[in-house]
Order: sequence, then structure tokens, then C-alpha cells
Amino acid sequence: MKKTIRDYDLNNKKVIIRCDFNVPIKDGKITDDNRIVQSLTTIKYALDNGAKLILMSHLGRIKEEEDKAKNSLILVANRLSELLGQPVKFSHSTRGEELENLVNSLNPGEVLLMENTRFEDVPGKKESGNDPELGAYWASLGDVFINDAFGTCHRAHASNVGIASNLPSGLGFLVEKEVNALSVLVDPSHPFVVILGGSKVSDKIGVIENLVKKADKIIIGGGMAYTFLKAKGINIGKSILDEENIEFCKGILANYPEKIVLPVDNLVTKEFSNDVESTIKDVDNMGEDEMGMDIGPKSIELFSNVLDSAKIVFWNGPLGVYEMSKFTNGTEKVLEKLVSTQATTILGGGDIVAAATNLGYKEKVTHASTGGGVTLEFMEGKELPGVVSVNDK
Ligand code: 3PG
Repeated sequence: MKKTIRDYDLNNKKVIIRCDFNVPIKDGKITDDNRIVQSLTTIKYALDNGAKLILMSHLGRIKEEEDKAKNSLILVANRLSELLGQPVKFSHSTRGEELENLVNSLNPGEVLLMENTRFEDVPGKKESGNDPELGAYWASLGDVFINDAFGTCHRAHASNVGIASNLPSGLGFLVEKEVNALSVLVDPSHPFVVILGGSKVSDKIGVIENLVKKADKIIIGGGMAYTFLKAKGINIGKSILDEENIEFCKGILANYPEKIVLPVDNLVTKEFSNDVESTIKDVDNMGEDEMGMDIGPKSIELFSNVLDSAKIVFWNGPLGVYEMSKFTNGTEKVLEKLVSTQATTILGGGDIVAAATNLGYKEKVTHASTGGGVTLEFMEGKELPGVVSVNDK
């Protein structure tokens, strides 16, 4: 058993909480604040218990200096302040005098957010490489460390594993809730159905290889379905293709033909755009100049029939080009079906959770995880460094 935030006296202590505030931002606006909202339980608990609170998070991936400007956490500080109804101090620096002065001037019940931990990735990948000096430095700012960044628990970075190895540590309420809710996926009851969408097969190879052994059916939609269709020898026109993984898909289809459920029809266009004409076509009838943008009505029916008998359903990734309004129908109809079943229903990954939120289904599923990649690794049965590294009871 791991220690949790409840195991520590936080009063008058400098408490570092690692959150996952890696939220989508478009045109200078946060488009989905779910991860911030889900962090509030732990943050409020710490503040109510007299903590001097230091929050840390990454945002995006920082590969070069130019990536920094568009990945500042300042927008998150503002949104968090609105949600908490109190000021949130902000340190533009991830080390040094400004940060240390702000930390040292905190009073109990006050909160400080430090700038994006991944700013330390340039130069030298210090955050992502779990640089020991950086983990020890950040730890030196606090008295207690709480990891509540479930979405990042599959990473061993300085801001989670590094700090945890230098301070008394525990899990936050969000990590605790996620691990409990997702534990049904480790040894699931059957029929266990997985729905995988999104565009890249390569991101999900490990998951598919592992899940195909434990799932009764894997429904594949979204862009990645086209690499599977291509592997079956079907003409996919100009649809998105993950060329390097055609052989992998062939292997999965040959070894588990009864488990993989692919679309039979789709909505096609001649351009990757919301503003062009779209037509429903069977998958084996696609023109060379066409591309699949969403699943069609026969696929919706096929997928819905598979869900009828399911005991547990796990869903990662939308079934069409969800960011374009014309291609949300497949995701919407299958979500509608999902919440009408008796199954335990779990959504993992920002896109499908955002889709369920926008369409009004989020409150109707058993659990909508804040994790993306981490939920997939958890299901694979992998240990999560962010959890393993905190103190045992
Ligand atoms: C996520 O969005 O899955 C987490 O915040 C982790 O982000 P990362 O894949 O960039 O490490």
C-alpha cells in the first residue's frame, strides 16, 4: 500500500503537488480544463489543511527554445485561480531566486504554480531524463511531496520520481481514484471489449499486442482502421496510412481474425476538410482520390452489436476526425450505445473524454480517466514509476 496525502500533517508545511495540467490550448485559450478541475480535490484538501502549496506540472513537449512561449502554464494559473476563487502566484522560473523567494513568502493556505517543468528539458533533457540534481533541487523547496499527476505516472521524470526519491511522499486523491477505477481492467470480466481510435497504429502497438490476448473483441475505428484495412488488401485511397505498421496489422489479423472488428463503411471526402462534400461508402468501394473521415451507419450498427453483450468496455480515441464537426457522428452514436448498455464503461485519453463531455455522455460512463498513454500502460500491466516511487505505508 502506498502512502497518500491523508498520511501527512500538512499544517504550515511546504507541500509540493505534482499535477497533470497538460491541457489542450488553442489560440491562447484552454479548450478543455478537465484535468485542472480533476486536480481540485487534492489542492483544496491541502489548502484546507494549512499547506503552503507549491504546484508543478508539465505542458506539451519542449524540444527547443521556441517551444517555450506557447507552452507556458500562465493560462493554467489564471484558470486555477478562477476555479479556486483565490489568487494563484506564478513563478516564471523553474529554478533560482524568483522561484525561491516566492516559495519562501508563501503563507499557509496560499498557492504557487511554478512554470512548466519541461522548460528544464532545454538544454539537456533534465526533467524528462530525471536528472538527479534537478529532482533534488525541486525537492529542496518543500517538506512533503504528493504525486497527483495520474496522466504522467507512466513517466519517470525529475518532477515525479526525482522529487519522490528526495522527500517524504504520497499519492493524491486523483491518482488514488484513477488506480482504483482502472483496476477492473487488469483482470477484466468477460466479454471484455476494447474500442481503439485515433490515427497512429504505432502509438498503440504495445497495447494491441497485449490486449488482443485478454479482450474478447477489439473494435478499431478512427484513422488507425485504415492501416488494418490496407493490411487486408483493401484500397484505402488517400486515407491516413501508417505504412511502417502494415505488417504488424497483417500479423494481428492473421492470428486473431475473430477478435478484430473493423469498419465496413465510412464517410469519405476528397479533401481533409470540414467544408467539402462527403459521401457514405462501403470500405471496399473507396476511390483513389477519396479518404475516410468517419465511420458509416453499417459500422455503427456492427460496433453497437458487439457492445450489446459486453461486461466491460474500455475506449481510447475517437472513431472519426472528431475535431471537424461533420465527422463526429460515429463517435457520438457509439457513445450513445455505450451508455445504454449494462457494461462497466471506461474512457481513457483526452480526446474521447473531451468528446464525451461535449456530447453530454461523460457523467453517464462508469469512469472517464484523465490519463491517456498511462491508462494504456496500466492495462498492459506495466508498473507505473510515478506510483511505485512514492513511499509505502
Ligand atoms: C498525457 O497527456 O498523456 C500526459 O500529460 C503525458 O504527456 P506526455 O505524453 O507528453 O509525457
